[in-house]
Amino acid sequence: MHIGRIRLKNGFFLAPMANFSTAPFRRLCREHGAGLTTSEMVSCEAAIHENWKTERLVARARNEKPFAIQVFGSEPKRIALAAEALEKRCEIIDINLGCPMHRITEQGGGAALLGKPAKIRGIFDALTTLKIPVTVKMRLGFATKAGCVGIARLIEQGGAAALTVHGRTAKQNYSEKADLGAICRIKKALSIPVIGNGDIFTPEDAERMLKKTGCDGVMVGRGALGNPSIFRQMAEYFRDGEYVIPDRSGRIGMLLRFLDYARGAPIAVTRAHAAYFAKGFEGAVGMRRKIMKAKSAGEIRKIARL
Ligand SMILES: Cc1cc2nc3c(=O)[nH]c(=O)nc-3n(C[C@H](O)[C@H](O)[C@H](O)COP(=O)(O)O)c2cc1C
Repeated sequence: MHIGRIRLKNGFFLAPMANFSTAPFRRLCREHGAGLTTSEMVSCEAAIHENWKTERLVARARNEKPFAIQVFGSEPKRIALAAEALEKRCEIIDINLGCPMHRITEQGGGAALLGKPAKIRGIFDALTTLKIPVTVKMRLGFATKAGCVGIARLIEQGGAAALTVHGRTAKQNYSEKADLGAICRIKKALSIPVIGNGDIFTPEDAERMLKKTGCDGVMVGRGALGNPSIFRQMAEYFRDGEYVIPDRSGRIGMLLRFLDYARGAPIAVTRAHAAYFAKGFEGAVGMRRKIMKAKSAGEIRKIARL
């Protein structure tokens, strides 16, 4: 699969997730076979001003190529300036047209842009000097799905190289199931690659997404938390029809590796991540509780090795 001229080894993408799609976690997901990883969303103002916080968000993980950086903002010219400031640091710029968080939408960013076609057009008009491909990640609408195909067409006409669709409106947040029918309608209307997103927790979920929507790839968010091996599982399942689910030692092994990669990261972020690995085996609940009280990565390592 290609995004513009960028060749990807597969269509299994890790979703951008604020506080979770960190460089150490993306590195682990790549090792488990993710075809593309994207940074957490970065405010275009922070990117333009080279705010120190941005540096951590946009740092490429080891061997992470291609790498996409996601930006959010509300003003087309500011988004374009941010993209220009970041284009030397990544292979793809992704624009956030899906974030439902009030603090973002009240400023006119994220999913609020879905109701403003002129602004969407304006973003692409302002991006014409960018040399790397631009992609968009959208929800189906802000409050209603009615205009989703029209918005997707606008994004394609603007020059996006690919589109990821999370099959919910912003108002839905995570309630109800992702609407695969709506994603399918968008896929049918476009000729650029469309990536289906929403509720993929197993390889069978990915298969359902691909079969029901005809999408070119899938993006996994929550399903990768504590389980970066989902990318390997999907590859195995599509190749062999079966896959190996990590047992306790597999999960702990991934956690220890994550902790190695996350040296120096803020402990609150490491702890939140680490807790996700303690799932699906006997004693996991107790381990998770202990992890949430840990004061250092060393302490988490000791808890995991017990
Ligand atoms: C903790 C968290 C943080 C997220 N942050 C972002 C973000 O920065 N940018 C974005 O486009 N979507 C973000 N999302 C949405 C996910 O990328 C994804 O679209 C959504 O979770 C649905 O996919 P899933 O069902 O596989 O989790 C976030 C989701 C979660 C759970």
